[in-house]
Amino acid sequence: ENNPTDLKKEITRLKEEKNAVFLAHYYQDAEIQDLADFVGDSLALAQKAADTDADIILFAGVHFMAETAKIINPEKKVILPDFKAGCSLAEAAPAKEFSEFVKQHPDHTVVTYINSSAEVKAYTDITVTSTNALKIINSLPEDEKIIFAPDRNLGKYIMKETGRDMLLWDGACVVHEAFALEKIVDLHKENPHAKIIAHPESEMPLLKVASFVGSTAALLRFVQEDEGDAYIVATEAGILHKMREAVPHKNLIPAPSKEDNTCACSECHFMKMNTLEKVYNCLQYEYPEVNVEEDIRVKAIGSIERMFELS
Ligand code: 13P
Ligand code: SF4
Repeated sequence: ENNPTDLKKEITRLKEEKNAVFLAHYYQDAEIQDLADFVGDSLALAQKAADTDADIILFAGVHFMAETAKIINPEKKVILPDFKAGCSLAEAAPAKEFSEFVKQHPDHTVVTYINSSAEVKAYTDITVTSTNALKIINSLPEDEKIIFAPDRNLGKYIMKETGRDMLLWDGACVVHEAFALEKIVDLHKENPHAKIIAHPESEMPLLKVASFVGSTAALLRFVQEDEGDAYIVATEAGILHKMREAVPHKNLIPAPSKEDNTCACSECHFMKMNTLEKVYNCLQYEYPEVNVEEDIRVKAIGSIERMFELS
């Protein structure tokens, strides 16, 4: 079954046969994005998962995304091509430590980035994504005390944009912290017309030199709606696939990372664990399956429902 054309055909056939919906994040390989029924950012994927009548949700993304789909759909089977596709942000907030931290601040509203485990969401009042974080924080009363976890970079960005003070958890995304500011600035000098655009999981010095900051969906929309013709894109390189499709005439330059000057460095190795072969196996054997303990699920779902209401 190694031939990609056969794999694609089989995946499409199995999808129909099993009434499965195939969801993929913008950071997946191009061939996975092209085969999926829907490609989106974390928020759009969660909304899509909430709005499907499929029996199986095949989630080509990382574990917390599939887990979120399962929290919303306890009666559906949610499968993930590689169970080890984690996330450095979700890892940065172990549930036990997080619950102790929350307990130490009982007067705080707990706002958590969707890049977190179901257990952490169970201690959360409102889940947010990078698409809706500013809107949701701004909707809270001005004197509300807020814990924000696990991304300190997104947290600092929200604080700067909203003027709120928040108690931050100390986590970060390995991919977005790896961008090399000096190399990006040099690249910008060579391409002065190219606008730097960045995801808010990046560090503040990079966000400060960016012309636009936003989630993957917002960055994709920006290159389509903006009048410019060149961009230095500081987020995971997978997004370039949809960008190139949307604006083939524009110059899209992947932002270089610290380790190397190739775009391979801005790839999320967790996201890239999913392959066409694993997608096929996962759908064929309906394995690995993502499950959430019911007592955790019922506690976690409230924070996701709050997010949907406030988005
Ligand atoms: P968004 O797709 O919500 O922008 O999130 C980026 C990300 O890092 C997902 O893991
Ligand atoms: Fe997690 Fe960063 Fe990978 Fe997104 S890009 S899944 S935040 S490690």
